[in-house]
Amino acid sequence: MLRFDYNNVKEEVVGFENGLDIKAAFEKYKNQIFKIIMHLNSIKDKPGAMLQWMNLGYNEETVWYVKEYAALVEGRFDNVLVLGIGGSALGGMAVCESLLPAYWNLLTKEQRNNLPKIFFLDNIDPDQMNGLLDILDLKRTIVCVVTKSGSTAETMSQFMIIKKRLEELLDENYRKNIVAITDQNIGILRQLSDQEGYKTFVVPDDVGGRFSVFSAVGLLPFALVGIDIDQLMQGVKDMDLALKNTDIWNNVAAQNALIHYLLDIEKNKNISVMMPYSNKLKYVADWYIQLWAESLGKEVDKNGNVVNVGQTPIRAIGATDQHSQIQLFNEGPNNKIINFIRIDNFNTTLEIPKIFEYTGIGYLGGKTINYLLNAEADATKVALTDYKRPNVTITLDKIDAYHIGQLLYMLQVQTAIAGELYNINTYNQPGVEQAKNYTYALMGRVGYEDSRQILEKKMNT
Ligand code: PA5
Repeated sequence: MLRFDYNNVKEEVVGFENGLDIKAAFEKYKNQIFKIIMHLNSIKDKPGAMLQWMNLGYNEETVWYVKEYAALVEGRFDNVLVLGIGGSALGGMAVCESLLPAYWNLLTKEQRNNLPKIFFLDNIDPDQMNGLLDILDLKRTIVCVVTKSGSTAETMSQFMIIKKRLEELLDENYRKNIVAITDQNIGILRQLSDQEGYKTFVVPDDVGGRFSVFSAVGLLPFALVGIDIDQLMQGVKDMDLALKNTDIWNNVAAQNALIHYLLDIEKNKNISVMMPYSNKLKYVADWYIQLWAESLGKEVDKNGNVVNVGQTPIRAIGATDQHSQIQLFNEGPNNKIINFIRIDNFNTTLEIPKIFEYTGIGYLGGKTINYLLNAEADATKVALTDYKRPNVTITLDKIDAYHIGQLLYMLQVQTAIAGELYNINTYNQPGVEQAKNYTYALMGRVGYEDSRQILEKKMNT
């Protein structure tokens, strides 16, 4: 199992102003955490509770069907193209970047064991999209269009562009290159899929986008590029079992949720930094940023009181950001909790040759860069602690499907528990609606004429 170390948030280590009396805090919140975990587990199957993500690890049917489909299309495609945004893209990107060999898309077909390359389009930047379309052979590309609502403007506009091109290239057969992952019943993409006869997979009810990585949203692309989804799900299940423990002393997600919550509300640490010492976990940090920000950044609590809560999440990558953000983290405002992710055993090793022995860089020779990276992680952690900056460390034995399943699921549960501590709705995102409506108005969507007039006035003043 992954390991969690909270020693550097203790007040005896980083001082009363910046740290916590962990023993007292855990004891004080013990009963509340017990109730939260019991509550989440007891209502998870209630329609509307938005907690079906807690069951995804056990969804053998989906695992079976995505594997079946991947086997069916094996060898037919050179590329997987995932269209989606926010929660419909970030989990896929996080897992693929973590688990596929580095520079996967630059490997030869043989090096990829005949598996396809994978591309995620999670924005509507015309230069990026045109650039990708210039290099992709769409005939040999399977397009996974992922949108739970089935109507997200960014994803659907990408889809409309690509569908037209596929049709021009393949006539009636274009359908064979499209898979839609969307709601079972509602939404325009569902309707279109039924009409046009696309292969579909379902985003289950009561699973929000940012909690959907272990549904077909993630699993289908993973299966298509040969990621070991059985091991991934085993990691999820084992972590789920571990996190059913209602005792805060034995529940790492509850511990980190409480630590973040208390540091925020009692010690003004309103920024949560996710800092993996691994480039492969770069998108895990991005995924966490969305999960933490969109789930916990809320105006009102469950009772309707205006609370304006939520920590601002930030990504930093070790060692790169030691040469960028660490100066600020050490000496700037002491308003952050830093989450280190440390990897005990990298999948490969690279030794620094023993050259330039009698120079100032001679000490590097004969060591591995694995050792150097972890030495830098340890050194930065100690330095931050010297500066009285609270930090926790999540350690993975290695980066494989099993541990990535554990890590992502732990962070989901941590977010769910934090949401209960803040007493907010973790699963909605009312704050994104206003700009969406304005966009519809600007784009001339029927029904938004009045908004357009108001908007134009505001834009011209
Ligand atoms: O986490 C979320 O719920 C959001 O980020 C959504 O995933 C995002 O807005 C995309 O929505 P949809 O999947 O409906 O296209």
